Amino acid sequence: MNVAIVGTGYVGLVTGACLAEAGNTVVCIDDNAAKLARIQQGMAPFHEPGLMPLVAQMQSEARLRFTSDLDEGTKSARLILLAVGTPSAADGCADTSGLLNCVAALAGLLDHACIVAIKSTAPVGTCEQAQAVFDARPEHLRLRAPVEVASNPEFLAEGHALEDFRHPERIVIGAGTPQAAQVLQEAYAPFDHDGAKLMLMGLRSAEFAKYACNAMLAARISVVNELACIAGRLGADVQAMCKVAASDSRIGGRYLQPGAGYGGSCLPKDLRALIRMADSRDEPATLLRSVERVNQRQIRLLFEAIRAHFQDRLDDRCIAVWGLAFKPGTDDIREAPSLALIRLLLDAGARIRAYDPVAAAAVRRAVDNPRLALAPTALDACRHSDALAVLTEWPEFTEFDLHELALCLKASVVFDGRHLYRTETLSEAGLLHYPIGRDAGREAGFRMRRQPAALHGLQGE
Ligand SMILES: NC(=O)c1ccc[n+]([C@@H]2O[C@H](COP(=O)([O-])OP(=O)(O)OC[C@H]3O[C@@H](n4cnc5c(N)ncnc54)[C@H](O)[C@@H]3O)[C@@H](O)[C@H]2O)c1
Repeated sequence: MNVAIVGTGYVGLVTGACLAEAGNTVVCIDDNAAKLARIQQGMAPFHEPGLMPLVAQMQSEARLRFTSDLDEGTKSARLILLAVGTPSAADGCADTSGLLNCVAALAGLLDHACIVAIKSTAPVGTCEQAQAVFDARPEHLRLRAPVEVASNPEFLAEGHALEDFRHPERIVIGAGTPQAAQVLQEAYAPFDHDGAKLMLMGLRSAEFAKYACNAMLAARISVVNELACIAGRLGADVQAMCKVAASDSRIGGRYLQPGAGYGGSCLPKDLRALIRMADSRDEPATLLRSVERVNQRQIRLLFEAIRAHFQDRLDDRCIAVWGLAFKPGTDDIREAPSLALIRLLLDAGARIRAYDPVAAAAVRRAVDNPRLALAPTALDACRHSDALAVLTEWPEFTEFDLHELALCLKASVVFDGRHLYRTETLSEAGLLHYPIGRDAGREAGFRMRRQPAALHGLQGE
């Protein structure tokens, strides 16, 4: 099938490469011509294991090509997937202007029958809005070249996006007619041989299901983080609690690790957008608002623990920060907890030596401050630093000679934003351990201050 994908970002490029691998002929379209030129030269626009070799192979087999010409790129497409960004607007709603601009442009140029499926995460009702744009075309065009809008939300996770796309847990298709569903089903057939993964539903349900899944993941993370804080106050071991909870088949073990909070390009913005959707229908969304508040508190907890440890004096301190990406396996730093902590520390006068195996360059672009230095290795970040804060659970961070680490850190203290280490093990190496949520800071005179309404560096409400 001829497929065109508008928006060659994480979702668009992975989808394009995998649909080409499955035997389709794919054109990836983006209005950023420079980005496309780099991809065509084999330069990765972001870190995603295995992606660029597959892109190169599909290009060499003439099953995948790139263009910034929307008209030419969509000319013979039976299926057009829209995968442009839907970032947060200032009020927290999803900004669908880029998506709807694409729809308007397509309505002006499509003159063949096709399905336009929205893969971007878009508020409930967006597909209907897009359909109305195509339906407003002159009657002769509507009859000769009918365009049907469908919803096809994406569930891949950065870091293992190829694996997720090749072996999806489900394929969600929201469609208004069997014909629209049929075209999408055909495109996804190689990933779903017996049709067991297919979930067919109405447009609004498909749009909503994507937000609901992200809200449930965010809620799970905030519940564990809140329990970790309560456990710390009560002198209970949160890891023991997690072990018990994970053994309950109704709860399960995934997303059950306390940490510095969720970040990235999806959960924070999608939760905000869902709350705004609830607001628009006078639904209080009480729980979802609390999920956000708990998440916003996490990085503040870590910062306050650091500040308290150094008796409110950070201006003569250097903090090593390990892990800048919002999670391992990616160089995506959008709404990463590391950025929020770095900004809080810089504002408090600290110097920072930061390290990440792949995301350092992105942080350099995002934070322009002479007191932020990027270290070439994890250990180098700790040399001449007073303390270490760990924000991303990259595997290499657990493979260290802790005695060597202890020799580097002047104040011999590790602020563990991911519960990566055991207190006893660090203690044997002469290191003090503050896992996030544990009230260890109290021993150092740590008292949580009242939180300001909007936290620094975090997009709250
Ligand atoms: N990143 C993820 O893990 C993920 C997972 C599931 C769903 N999503 C959703 O998928 C959508 C895309 O996310 P992403 O992370 O791939 O975004 P991205 O920012 O990485 O990529 C978006 C691309 O669209 C291009 N673009 C923007 N406007 C355009 C236009 N008018 N014409 C052509 N190209 C245009 C941009 O240049 C960019 O390359 C979002 O709605 C996101 O919420 C993302």
